[in-house]
Amino acid sequence: MSINHVVPFATFLAFASLARCDPPFNNPPDVDVWCGKAYRETDSSFDPGGWLEPPAQINGSNPLRLRLNVYPRYNFYVEDEEEGSFVVDTRVSDQEVYGGVYVNETRGEGNGTVGFTELLLKIWIGDTVVVDNLSVPVNTTGIEVPFDLSLAKLTDEAGTGVFEVRGSSTDGKQTYQDLTHIVVLPERSDGGSMARLDRLNGGIHVSSSLTNGAWKSILPMGFYTRWDWISWLVDPDNNTEPPNLASNETKSLQEYKDRGYNLVHPVPPGGWASFDTAIFEKFLTICDELELYVMYDMRHTYLNLSSISYQLPRLQSHPSVLLYYTGDEPDGWTDPLNGTLLAYDHIKSIDPYHPVSLVLNCYNFYFKEYTSGADIILEDTYNLIKSSTFSPVYNTACNRTYGDCGCDYCHVNDTAYPLFVDRPFEDVVERTRRMYQYQRWLGKKETKPVWGVPQWFYDADSFWGRWATREEAIVLALLRINHGAMGIVGWLFPTSPEVESATTDLAKVLAREDVARLLVDGTGLHVTPTAPEEGSSLDVAAWVRGDEILAVIVWPEYEVGGGAALELPTGGRSVTGLEVLFGAEWTADGTTISKDGTASLEVSILKGKIGGC
Ligand SMILES: *[C@@H]1O[C@H](CO)[C@@H](O)[C@H](O)[C@H]1NC(C)=O
Ligand SMILES: *[C@@H]1O[C@H](CO)[C@@H](O)[C@H](O)[C@H]1NC(C)=O
Ligand SMILES: *[C@@H]1O[C@H](CO)[C@@H](O)[C@H](O)[C@H]1NC(C)=O
Ligand SMILES: *[C@@H]1O[C@H](CO)[C@@H](O)[C@H](O)[C@H]1NC(C)=O
Ligand SMILES: *[C@@H]1O[C@H](CO)[C@@H](O)[C@H](O)[C@H]1NC(C)=O
Ligand SMILES: *[C@@H]1O[C@H](CO)[C@@H](O)[C@H](O)[C@H]1NC(C)=O
Ligand SMILES: *[C@@H]1O[C@H](CO)[C@@H](O)[C@H](O)[C@H]1NC(C)=O
Ligand SMILES: *[C@@H]1O[C@H](CO)[C@@H](O)[C@H](O)[C@H]1NC(C)=O
Ligand SMILES: *[C@@H]1O[C@H](CO)[C@@H](O)[C@H](O)[C@H]1NC(C)=O
Ligand SMILES: *[C@@H]1O[C@H](CO)[C@@H](O)[C@H](O)[C@H]1NC(C)=O
Ligand SMILES: *[C@@H]1O[C@H](CO)[C@@H](O)[C@H](O)[C@H]1NC(C)=O
Repeated sequence: MSINHVVPFATFLAFASLARCDPPFNNPPDVDVWCGKAYRETDSSFDPGGWLEPPAQINGSNPLRLRLNVYPRYNFYVEDEEEGSFVVDTRVSDQEVYGGVYVNETRGEGNGTVGFTELLLKIWIGDTVVVDNLSVPVNTTGIEVPFDLSLAKLTDEAGTGVFEVRGSSTDGKQTYQDLTHIVVLPERSDGGSMARLDRLNGGIHVSSSLTNGAWKSILPMGFYTRWDWISWLVDPDNNTEPPNLASNETKSLQEYKDRGYNLVHPVPPGGWASFDTAIFEKFLTICDELELYVMYDMRHTYLNLSSISYQLPRLQSHPSVLLYYTGDEPDGWTDPLNGTLLAYDHIKSIDPYHPVSLVLNCYNFYFKEYTSGADIILEDTYNLIKSSTFSPVYNTACNRTYGDCGCDYCHVNDTAYPLFVDRPFEDVVERTRRMYQYQRWLGKKETKPVWGVPQWFYDADSFWGRWATREEAIVLALLRINHGAMGIVGWLFPTSPEVESATTDLAKVLAREDVARLLVDGTGLHVTPTAPEEGSSLDVAAWVRGDEILAVIVWPEYEVGGGAALELPTGGRSVTGLEVLFGAEWTADGTTISKDGTASLEVSILKGKIGGC
């Protein structure tokens, strides 16, 4: 058997390998690759290509650049909405290669010079000025500027509906430009849902009959789910043998939903229609009743546009449909580089109301090309491997250009990377961050949210030696959330009873309305532990919304840790009414929270109010 990342993929090898030798991939004929790298003992290493480098740092006497970035808050609006908003970013650094020269000097009142700390913003379309001389701070992100949405119907002379933006220093000597476009879609009349991306905070918002037409923020949390299990459940007349499962604890989609999971992602068994159409219709009807959101997977068919045309119309009237999913590790399989974008454009031409996602498996392999066809990027970094340096399946070394260890270019427990020995989950943290960083390197205006795929499966005789423990299962999700993951979709349900119980306990907390609101619509900030140890491994993030604060704390080491104290980002005000929603206790004193010792892989989810000074 050839490369077999997760068992159900194996049956589609012939399909994937068709593309394998097409240019621009560097493998010689007949050399099997994963992430472009040779992995068989009989083949030798070569440069796989497709590696994205950071833009060169700007040198010289004026190295700073200001990038004026203006984009709509939502990837679309609907016709009956009255107000829209622009998000404005004004980053300044010597890495903003896409920006204009910035000199920190402008004329103040009188004729003296002062720092260039405010930018005067003008936004217009055709002859209509939308925003005039609005002062926004320099080197700030996420400034929200409301506008009258009826203006989006206006067009410029070319009829394109593009808004022009100019920012200038108060003396008018330094100016910056941008363009932005607002999409306004008609209301749906077929009963289907609309799901859109919030560019300000990265979340997904959905509106349908299930939400009574209101926009609801959700933090998707669920699993890729075996189709044999689903079809067996939803088709009671089907008296075939039940599938052989890791756990028999959950016996209906109602029970799945009751466990706190709000998303289900059926894994298609294959065929040009992805799923049995009649059984899928039954499944969707149950999901509609349960308000269980569906991620619709076209992994085997996304390169076949006529198949997409067949599949999509059947889904449209179901309010539980949340988003689409095309490439399943297209970078691993070396699917054609234009495939994800061709599918994306085709999907949007049929249904502009739902985002398109895909999962990347590689560390850094044609990121730009594959993600050009996605609104949401998933990463499936499976770090609980037998070895990061030697493949137990193929008996070769694993490194940047060679081998497959089940976690591409991961360093878990590799003594050459001491940080990854102390923190064996660092690969997950690094990958999540990189999926955002690569977008910055490419100069992307609008950040595509990253979702995570925790390792909640086990395949015997593979790269992965065992099931995740309860503690590991939870750390795999929470570390991702701390580093910006806006959705969690584990591989694969039904999972082990231990992972099922751990993820249920976690899902029930994440599904709470107050928690989801903070995680999806709050402002996320990283918090550095203060005492007693600088540079502690403690991984902390906090979300603030109004007078509420949520903190997620992860100790990502197997070793026990010492005590810790953290200053929460409350703007100097004290934390009151601290509640432990999940995991270990912390106590609050003023703006600081603390605890004595830290157990192996300990986590906490805390919620409090920001009180007086
Ligand atoms: C800027 O300087 C650094 C360090 O000297 C150098 O490595 C880099 O290549 C230079 N970048 C450019 C664009 O010249
Ligand atoms: C500023 O300079 C201009 C010409 O350089 C001069 O005409 C003007 O009077 C000055 N204004 C003040 C307030 O000093
Ligand atoms: C510009 O200079 C002012 C002081 O005049 C300083 O407060 C500010 O941080 C500087 N901004 C940047 C982006 O360098
Ligand atoms: C623009 O705003 C700046 C600062 O807010 C102010 O000093 C200036 O007079 C304004 N200019 C116009 C044309 O309104
Ligand atoms: C801009 O803001 C970032 C993030 O707050 C900060 O790290 C950086 O030093 C600032 N840059 C300048 C030039 O002031
Ligand atoms: C019963 O379910 C199995 C597994 O999904 C499927 O292969 C089979 O065709 C179904 N049989 C009937 C009679 O629907
Ligand atoms: C689940 O139930 C089926 C049928 O009763 C059985 O064959 C299978 O071994 C069970 N699996 C587990 C993990 O209990
Ligand atoms: C593509 O999809 C069509 C259905 O629209 C199907 O007839 C055809 O066989 C599919 N092609 C492949 C190569 O699977
Ligand atoms: C997509 O790329 C493949 C090569 O991988 C090429 O054969 C095909 O013509 C391209 N399709 C389009 C529409 O550009
Ligand atoms: C890394 O090392 C720790 C501690 O020895 C061990 O518990 C864990 O299973 C190892 N993880 C991997 C992926 O090798
Ligand atoms: C990766 O390992 C192979 C086989 O040992 C070796 O030939 C190659 O030079 C290594 N590549 C790197 C980047 O170290």
